Amino acid sequence: MVPYDLEGKRIVLGVCGGIAAYKSAELLRLLVKQGAEPRVVMTANAVHFVGPMTFEALSGKKVLLDLFSGNDEATIGHIQWAQEADAVIIAPATANFLAKLAHGIADDALSTFMLAVTCPVIICPSMNTNMLNSRPVQRNLETIKKDGHLVVDPCAGELACGTSGPGRLPEPHYIVDYLAGIMAPKDFRGKNILVTAGPTREAIDPVRYISNPSTGKMGFAIARAAERRGANVMLVTGPTALEAPPNVRVTRVETAAQMAEAVLDFMEHADIIIKTAAVSDYRPCSVSERKLKKNERNLELSLERTDDILREVGRRKSGQILVGFAAETHDLESYALKKLEEKNLDIIVANRIGPPDSGFASDTNKAVLFFRNGTKEPLELMSKEKMAHLLLDRIIALQEDRQ
Ligand code: CTP
Repeated sequence: MVPYDLEGKRIVLGVCGGIAAYKSAELLRLLVKQGAEPRVVMTANAVHFVGPMTFEALSGKKVLLDLFSGNDEATIGHIQWAQEADAVIIAPATANFLAKLAHGIADDALSTFMLAVTCPVIICPSMNTNMLNSRPVQRNLETIKKDGHLVVDPCAGELACGTSGPGRLPEPHYIVDYLAGIMAPKDFRGKNILVTAGPTREAIDPVRYISNPSTGKMGFAIARAAERRGANVMLVTGPTALEAPPNVRVTRVETAAQMAEAVLDFMEHADIIIKTAAVSDYRPCSVSERKLKKNERNLELSLERTDDILREVGRRKSGQILVGFAAETHDLESYALKKLEEKNLDIIVANRIGPPDSGFASDTNKAVLFFRNGTKEPLELMSKEKMAHLLLDRIIALQEDRQ
């Protein structure tokens, strides 16, 4: 299995003395949460902003601060850490650090460590806008890029110095996303993937609709994972509160009919189609133009069927790998197998709706995969991100089998 993004990856986080150093603690926490094994190197000035103890508590490892403190970690640690690292992130990178890196100056633990590094390096500069735009800093950034390091542009916004402009450290989750994109294998490069996500909404009147509790998390996780692995991703989603994953084309729709139109339009360009969307099976036969007013009698709604998008895609498909999802409260296996057959799928991911750690809205999922060749793979409880990668692993294996 392709390692899940950052799991087990040795990441060295370099922290320099800038106001944004407080965000580095959150960055470190996110790296730990993603299963990475981070270590922290700090400059002497960084300690004025955040104490090493914070980073030691979050990483569970000693911070490298001083090459001359006498312990082994300090004397040879910087070389060993540099050799072992899978990636390095410098956040925040100050103007002074950039100058040292650009010129190969090695006068403290972090700058010395940097000269021994051979893995990918992500530099996240953060400083006052005028400092950032100054000629020396821009010159140093150019040199650093030419040396092969990756530079994450600072964001624009309010700065601690009271001014507003570019110079803010991007949010930690953005930096982690960027890192994950670099670390992921590019085994989906050149492939077009169509993913659907979220619920659909079928209007009853201008203020009411029929829908379901799907949040879109599973589909967005698949879209993000596929993009990280090099795919061109088109995501068709019903209403969700989720941010579009970077570099993914997103089409937002409301109703099952709109989703059907978008999917059927795009499907011939897709090599792989993954339908996680919880599509409404029924819609009101008519939509009231005015808000329905209540009275003492019961209200009866007359509903008609929407089109089954997946079934239609299965009917039209020509060589694409087609993956469906099944949400079931009971008889999981028999219903899932029926859908696999009837909708002409290659894989169906069946989850049980009911347990709080699985299905709608949860961050984790427990599912069973059923394959067209009759095999079945029960999966343990895992995060939706991890399940997304696992599903992509199975899809790539199917494609290889076909070749
Ligand atoms: N699906 C679809 N269009 C629909 C209904 C479902 O494309 N109108 C797709 C879903 O995106 C999912 C799969 O079909 O990939 C199974 O959806 P699910 O709601 O579990 O099953 P249904 O086919 O709707 O059957 P039932 O509601 O009877 O379980």
